[in-house]
Amino acid sequence: MALFTFPKDFLWGASTAAYQIEGAIHEDGRGPCVWDTFTEAGRIQDGSSAAVACDHYHRWAEDTALMKDAGFNAYRFSIAWPRILPSGTGAVNAAGLDFYDRLVDGLLADGIRPMACLYHWDLPQPLEDRGGWQGREVVGPFADYARIVAARLADRVKDWMMLNEPNVVATHGYGTGEHAPGHKLGETGILRALHHQNLAQGAALRALSAEHSGLTLGTVINLQPCRAESDRPQDVAAAARWDAVWNRVALDGVMRGKIPELMAERMKDFVLPGDEEAIRFPIDLLGINYYSRMTMKHETGHPFDVWWGDAHCDRWTAMAWPVQPDGLYDLLMEFRRDYGNPAVFVAENGAAYDDVVTPDGQVHDAERVAFLRDHVASVGRALADGCNVKGYLCWSLLDNFEWAFGLSKRFGIVRVDYDTLVRTPKDSYRFLSEVAKSGQFDL
Ligand code: NOJ
Repeated sequence: MALFTFPKDFLWGASTAAYQIEGAIHEDGRGPCVWDTFTEAGRIQDGSSAAVACDHYHRWAEDTALMKDAGFNAYRFSIAWPRILPSGTGAVNAAGLDFYDRLVDGLLADGIRPMACLYHWDLPQPLEDRGGWQGREVVGPFADYARIVAARLADRVKDWMMLNEPNVVATHGYGTGEHAPGHKLGETGILRALHHQNLAQGAALRALSAEHSGLTLGTVINLQPCRAESDRPQDVAAAARWDAVWNRVALDGVMRGKIPELMAERMKDFVLPGDEEAIRFPIDLLGINYYSRMTMKHETGHPFDVWWGDAHCDRWTAMAWPVQPDGLYDLLMEFRRDYGNPAVFVAENGAAYDDVVTPDGQVHDAERVAFLRDHVASVGRALADGCNVKGYLCWSLLDNFEWAFGLSKRFGIVRVDYDTLVRTPKDSYRFLSEVAKSGQFDL
């Protein structure tokens, strides 16, 4: 063990998403989004909804105070498109902009750097009704929305992330139907949704860079190193196909303006001349979400004939995701090697566990503490080995609405009692706070 000192300006903090924490879905002129519709259709496994969630819309000052007390200096949040443009396009809802204005001022007053993400999955329903991410209709509206938000906030918000995990939107939302809007369109639906998000992102990045200077422009992609379950050529090919879909369409889209060769044939009907240039953009900062590796095998009956293989792991979270902290080190180092070591930050990393409130009223979440410790160590090692990593934000500040799992999966370093909305910092909060305050860590 050696004591490692993180750089003074290293970013420490947490990430959240509007839909997962804000609640207030019918307030102040907000319009409907695809997740409202999906929830109303009874698609949330525990029957819960995000109508109240953490009530962050009203309690944001309590939440920023928690971050300040923790010694965090950065916070990634998302802006709800349906609050800003209730119909997706057209009339701007001033009350929606006012909310983020207040939040940003609050964060800055507390010494926390606001990192805004423009799209964390709450597509306005009227845009879904026009085809959603299956077509190009959304590209222009997304760039307009980006312009409108930046015109209001870019004097104070310097870090702008366009999308969050476009691969999940594509696979779960349009491929398998597990997420809103719930379509089961298979391989083509997945690739179309990815490509149109790439196009929207390219358009928004260009719009913001043309209208503002001095911004840090980027996006957030969840990268998961894909391994084959076995050496069988079929499994190796399946893992490579899945790597192309899951990681490369988004990553190589923005970084290289390239459709992965393995997907080119499947995408030729909707990738038009000029698209590859349009999706490429020299971003300033890439947010990487990391939860685990993926171990895949060949199996027919699924999109791309790929299915989960045996990860051979002895640590698992309550999501049944393997705990593989060394995967984060490998990923950061591979990224350094293959993409020229651009600036990155860990935009999400964390774990759901079945937390218990003990008689002392506390949550002693030792497994989550161990999870965070092991992943922070991976980041420290990558930094020590030359990776240009600028920060570590955990997922998530608060327990929140975990999409199709509803309120039943808890990722927070702060517990939320959904009856009283009382926030209780967990041991993991104290752990991350100590690291953030000292900037030191035993690797
Ligand atoms: C990534 C997503 O960005 C976030 O919304 C989600 O809650 C976490 N992963 C955990 O599944």
